Amino acid sequence: MTRTPFGTAPGGQGVELITLTNAHGVELRAMTYGAIIISLKVPDRTGKLGDVVLGYDSLAGYVKSSPYFGAVVGRYANRIAKGEFTLDGTAYSLAINNGPNALHGGLKGFDKVVWQAESLPSPDGTGVRFHYVSTDGEEGYPGTLDATVTYTLTDSNEVRISYEATTDKPTPVNLTQHSYFNLAGRGDVLEHILQINADRIVPVDSTLIPTGQLMPVKGTPFDFTTPHAVGERIDAADQQITFGKGYDHTFVLTRADTGLVLAAVLKDPTSGRVLEVRTTEPGVQFYTGNFLDGTLTGKGGVVYQRRTGLCLEAHHFPDSPNQPQFPNTILRPGETYRSRTVWKFGVE
Ligand code: BGC
Repeated sequence: MTRTPFGTAPGGQGVELITLTNAHGVELRAMTYGAIIISLKVPDRTGKLGDVVLGYDSLAGYVKSSPYFGAVVGRYANRIAKGEFTLDGTAYSLAINNGPNALHGGLKGFDKVVWQAESLPSPDGTGVRFHYVSTDGEEGYPGTLDATVTYTLTDSNEVRISYEATTDKPTPVNLTQHSYFNLAGRGDVLEHILQINADRIVPVDSTLIPTGQLMPVKGTPFDFTTPHAVGERIDAADQQITFGKGYDHTFVLTRADTGLVLAAVLKDPTSGRVLEVRTTEPGVQFYTGNFLDGTLTGKGGVVYQRRTGLCLEAHHFPDSPNQPQFPNTILRPGETYRSRTVWKFGVE
């Protein structure tokens, strides 16, 4: 692992750039601002390395405007209806930053804070651990939340992401990694082939808040139980597609236990690159970059048009603090929040 200065955050804190490399030349660069993965270079079928995530060349781009490119999202990834929830009889209010709702941890969520980094070598590879202590009441959330996120790059071309958190008051926690993948390293992702291990999704209303039901995918554009091109049904006449402006939904992973399960397999037929996502989380948000609109210019001067990247955000269901029937997202004092996700890169 190497670390170099990478500029100064708006609060005046120095930001560092961390670089991890493995035996095959795979390289992951992340910075302490937002624990953001800035670039991830993996081989294509000819062995040529290419960057498979969207982002910016410098810190300034991320500070100015970023739709969570590569960031760790917290304390609560995805939406909480009207920014309100009640926990143990106390009502809490969060900033409204997405239509009528709260999104991705607030105005200054975990994607915009400076984390402390330490090298974390392991038998499996080279790693970095990011640490951040969120104060009681930060962004409206109760409790001091002590959070760590570890990225380990293994010699089997895996990026292992693990999260831990503890609190001194009950509080909702739902952390995720918000990288936008484009396995071709250019163009849009409509020809990527995707399979998702989910026979239900969490359907939403027009503001992308769950209705509370789970919807079977059979016979809908959401059926990725067998491989389909991302673009094949993305503009189908379907109410959920209309609400999401494409795919922007949590898929309910089919699992037998709470261990790591294969969530999704993404393939780019042109480069041959394959990404397998495994996670301990109950869901994965499949988001097709529907809100990218050509106004952001990213790495190397590339203009990010609609659907130039897609996210596979492993997390709990949206709005769980208001939906008692969903898997629990409340962390209590004395408990440790633990979550793991693995991205395995290969070729075909
Ligand atoms: C959400 C999208 C949102 C995007 C960027 C995703 O996790 O599901 O609705 O536009 O993040 O903010």
